[in-house]
Amino acid sequence: MLKGRHLIEPGDFQLNEIESIMQLADNIIADPEGYSLVCKGKLLASLFYEPSTRTRFSFEAAMLRLGGEIIGFDDPNNSSVSKGESLGDTIRTIECYSDIAVIRHPREGTARLVSKFANEMPIINAGDGGHEHPTQTLTDLLTIRKFKGGCDNHVVGVCGDLLFGRTIHSLVKTLSRYQGIRFVFISPTELKMPAHILYQLDPQTYKETTSLDEVIGELDILYMSRVQRERFVSEEEYLRLKNYYILDKKKMKGAKPDMIVMHPLPRVNEIATEVDEDPRAVYFAQAKYGMYVRMALIAKLLGVEDKK
Ligand code: NCD
Repeated sequence: MLKGRHLIEPGDFQLNEIESIMQLADNIIADPEGYSLVCKGKLLASLFYEPSTRTRFSFEAAMLRLGGEIIGFDDPNNSSVSKGESLGDTIRTIECYSDIAVIRHPREGTARLVSKFANEMPIINAGDGGHEHPTQTLTDLLTIRKFKGGCDNHVVGVCGDLLFGRTIHSLVKTLSRYQGIRFVFISPTELKMPAHILYQLDPQTYKETTSLDEVIGELDILYMSRVQRERFVSEEEYLRLKNYYILDKKKMKGAKPDMIVMHPLPRVNEIATEVDEDPRAVYFAQAKYGMYVRMALIAKLLGVEDKK
């Protein structure tokens, strides 16, 4: 049962629970009308202490499409945070008014911390610093399921900023729980996958490289990512690394005909726009699946998953 639970990192849920969210997302995609009133009378608090386009809009669209309503802010300066209120007090107050809350914060661990103050209201982590981004993982898994038939037995290339990319940390840890997954980690040496994540993987299941060209032909899935400018201490270092990988038509020629290219977005330069027309580029479809999977997640956490 997922009713009343928090989602701070994907490891909070069993694999069968994650699969049940995706199953519900499939049902919602097949019959959106059937679910358009399940959250009637419910309120979602959307607390964004860091910029967002897809995550915030997809959560808000998800709640509205389930018949619920939204309160919140996308600029903490418009809340009492600017008067020095603690996060604990903010959450206790929000809990008086809403049924479920989504929080994004630049500091690692914030979502876990605030969940300790919420007694009745499920908390969903929409990204905490460079740490985790569990709902992007649900989005990614649903996309893989839709385009590749399921999440087992794939060679997954993960390319870009593996050091700071929270979507990558959450996805890799979760995919490693499926059967037959092999990873190819592609990054500049400065942005390698952190040791604390590598330690959690079977060494037989991954390899590391700096060259995308050398490995692209082996991949079933290529997960591209943006160099995370806001997490760098030095702007100079960011500028040196930001264009390290640029996926273009020429590189795509070396890829399998059924490889898919994913990206959590926003992209900066790492995928040339000419790739968008390639049928293997699925990142905008991925953004759309993000809304459906968040509809399923909200319905599960509120215990309102049956059609009206
Ligand atoms: C990602 C994030 O915020 O971590 N974006 C998203 O939620 N789709 C990726 C990023 O910002 O690079």
